[in-house]
Amino acid sequence: MTTINRTKSKKIFEKSEEVIAGGVNSPVRAFIGLGIDPMIVKKGEGSTITDIDGRTFIDYCMSWGALLHGHAHPEVTKRAIERVKLGSTFGIATEEEEWLARELVDGISSLDKVRFVSSGTEAVMTAVRLARGFTGRPIVIKFNGNYHGHADPFLVKAGSGVSQVSQESSSDGVPDEVVKHTLSLPYNAIEAFTKVMHDPFYSQFVAAVVLEPIGANMGVVPATLEFLECVRYETKRIGAVLIFDEVISGFRVAFGGAQKLYGVEPDLSTFGKIIGGGFPAAAFGGKEGIMDCLAPKGKVYQAGTLSGNPVAMEAGLATLELAKTAGFYEELKRKTEVITKPLRSRVKGGCLQETVGMFTIFFGVEKVSSFEDLKELDKERFKAYFRFMWDKGIYISPSPYEACFISSAHSQEQLERTRDAILEFLSE
Ligand SMILES: Cc1ncc(COP(=O)(O)O)c(C=O)c1O
Repeated sequence: MTTINRTKSKKIFEKSEEVIAGGVNSPVRAFIGLGIDPMIVKKGEGSTITDIDGRTFIDYCMSWGALLHGHAHPEVTKRAIERVKLGSTFGIATEEEEWLARELVDGISSLDKVRFVSSGTEAVMTAVRLARGFTGRPIVIKFNGNYHGHADPFLVKAGSGVSQVSQESSSDGVPDEVVKHTLSLPYNAIEAFTKVMHDPFYSQFVAAVVLEPIGANMGVVPATLEFLECVRYETKRIGAVLIFDEVISGFRVAFGGAQKLYGVEPDLSTFGKIIGGGFPAAAFGGKEGIMDCLAPKGKVYQAGTLSGNPVAMEAGLATLELAKTAGFYEELKRKTEVITKPLRSRVKGGCLQETVGMFTIFFGVEKVSSFEDLKELDKERFKAYFRFMWDKGIYISPSPYEACFISSAHSQEQLERTRDAILEFLSE
């Protein structure tokens, strides 16, 4: 409860603030604008987390979507422990890297080859460098409210946690010269995009168009099929590289990612979160002709001490093997709908948006297709919602710009309890 004794959490956060900038290692953990002390988590088991003060919550943040099977899944944990006993890092190639790479290449039809890195930020940053190297062009087009990690070129209208720091969702410390090659356009806006792609300057100099095929960093905002088809058509027409950032959607909405759901294939894709099974791993990959531009074969540089870390590879492999079982995504969809179906007609003065394994309730806006639609977002109502759920022992992602994630570990009873709590909040 907000009123419950949270002495330990408070004390640890205060001590952390003395030695960690802002007390946290990622801004959204500071519970900005929620009016309560941040959570300090002690442990996770299946669909629940327990904080340092001993209170257990049903978790719908799931490490921001990284945990497809919940916390400390027995198989994932066992495999990671077995692997760590053999040594956790070498800076030398291991067999596990080939195993997970093959799983990705077999599972995602647009991938010929992949490269592993340690975070989604690195994956997208390197994919864009690769696109620039491949095309010899400088400009990257992104879309407002899509988040692609915290590398400099993307910190322009970047959605997610950045939205809470600056209204422009941009960052200090990024010189104009660095972002002068980044153009950020409205999401799902076919006309604005087509106009730019037909401009004589842009059609000559755009190296890459990067987007989340299912936006999940301004809440859940799926692209329309027409928009993705248009982006695919226009990039092909001008010879630019199309990059789908599937760091969230990959292996969450379908085994083949959002690109399989939509039937639109990019040239490069990025993955993260789920593919590390709760450990730091991410990847980018795509067509052979582009991927072979990477060093050591090609001249585009990328490297990493912990890239392809064997413990993360093994945990990722165990995670994907579990997701590959027949009916997994149908069941994840069913579980999501235990919560969302009864809510669809009940959210008044706001809206519910969803896809397989994730959903967002937006307060104060009727429909969200782009970041621009969020101008009237009712953050005070979100704060009340978060605190209401918190008091019921349900932890939702602590920001109105984020998604709630369902894992295979959530039980029917927990999902129904969550649904009933939301319905109670909505009827107040
Ligand atoms: C779509 C997308 N791309 C990239 C990233 C960056 O990933 P990471 O936080 O692992 O650097 C995120 C993180 O949330 C993301 O949602």
